[in-house]
Amino acid sequence: MQLLQLSSGCESEIVRNMSVTDLLRPNIRKLVPYRCARDDYKVGILLDANENTSVTAVSDLSEAEKRLDLNRYPDPHLVDVKQLLCNLRNAEAAKSGLPASLAPQNICLGVGSDESIDALQRALCRPGTDKILICPPTYGMYKVSADINDLSVVSVPLDENFDLQTDKIIEKLQADPTIKMALACSPGNPTGKLLKMDDILKITRAWTGGVVVVDEAYVDFSGPSCATLVTENERLAVLQTLSKSFGLAGLRCGVTFAHENLAIALNSMKAPYNISSITAELARRALSPASIKIMRDGVAQIVAERARMVAELPKIDGLGKIVGGLDANFVMVQVLDKAGGVPSNEHALKIYKLLAETKQVVVRYRGNELNCVGCLRISIGTKDENDTVIQVLEEALSE
Ligand SMILES: Cc1ncc(COP(=O)(O)O)c(C=O)c1O
Repeated sequence: MQLLQLSSGCESEIVRNMSVTDLLRPNIRKLVPYRCARDDYKVGILLDANENTSVTAVSDLSEAEKRLDLNRYPDPHLVDVKQLLCNLRNAEAAKSGLPASLAPQNICLGVGSDESIDALQRALCRPGTDKILICPPTYGMYKVSADINDLSVVSVPLDENFDLQTDKIIEKLQADPTIKMALACSPGNPTGKLLKMDDILKITRAWTGGVVVVDEAYVDFSGPSCATLVTENERLAVLQTLSKSFGLAGLRCGVTFAHENLAIALNSMKAPYNISSITAELARRALSPASIKIMRDGVAQIVAERARMVAELPKIDGLGKIVGGLDANFVMVQVLDKAGGVPSNEHALKIYKLLAETKQVVVRYRGNELNCVGCLRISIGTKDENDTVIQVLEEALSE
């Protein structure tokens, strides 16, 4: 047991911090990572990785693509990309009075955060024995990934305001030593609500039996992020992605921020070349000052459009309240039944299908999620797209 200083911006206290290394699966703790050819020698005539140095079999490579040396395996470490991510999150944290000492050794990159979710589960949870805790309604991949990894899922639902039921969560975690991970989505999908950082920190302080993973896929639409807190707390990991605020869902670049002791394990486990040269190059460019400005301007535009949708949607006859928070790039709205004006799954499903099949507008039906009766989740699009959504909803609900 080690004593560490933890400050959450408004508070500072001594916490007992069990090393995360003790929480890793025994096989992961002992893992000797694959050593790739380039870890040994980097210069000279490189004939040590069975690459093809004669041709790259794409007939129309651009000059820029040629510079990526696609016949070569990519850099498995990408320290420069990781440094750019640290710079971004450290600068934001400093502005919010949070710790700001992330370094590249606090990062593991994944093929989207979906790969990162799977990697954390594999690092910490023994198949057939261990469990994860989730807080529904939440992102569906946590359970899918648990099913793939043969892990049971314990649920402690969010409360009616879509906040964490912190005491109940702590009680469940403390009572069951086979729970090795608690996943909290902040801002939540589908709730759209940023969780309270103090609630998250309270759980990490009270529970030493596993890792609290905060999925911040949408954090740039609200914030602040918990990412920098991982340097002071071994049992906290934070997931981010370039898929949302950066508009790069097709790139597949997810980021796990973790204490060095956990990040070492995650980097040892990952396929050495999981991030392609093309992904790395685009991520590098997305993290330039000019690109970050585009990201921020885009976020501001989406936030403004979100406010417009929040004002307009409830005016449409047949729609009810906006449900959940306004901290992400989507909103949830209730579809009411025709007779009584109460939220209706049956009607929401009908409208959802009508929109997709006759109006060519596809939103997401979320009525089966806890406390989301009758809800459609609508991503905030461009102004024109949002105008169309409003128009087709009006049409569909009056038919
Ligand atoms: C909460 C949440 N986490 C993670 C993801 C997946 O992100 P990625 O594209 O990085 O795999 C999504 C995608 O919708 C999401 O909603």
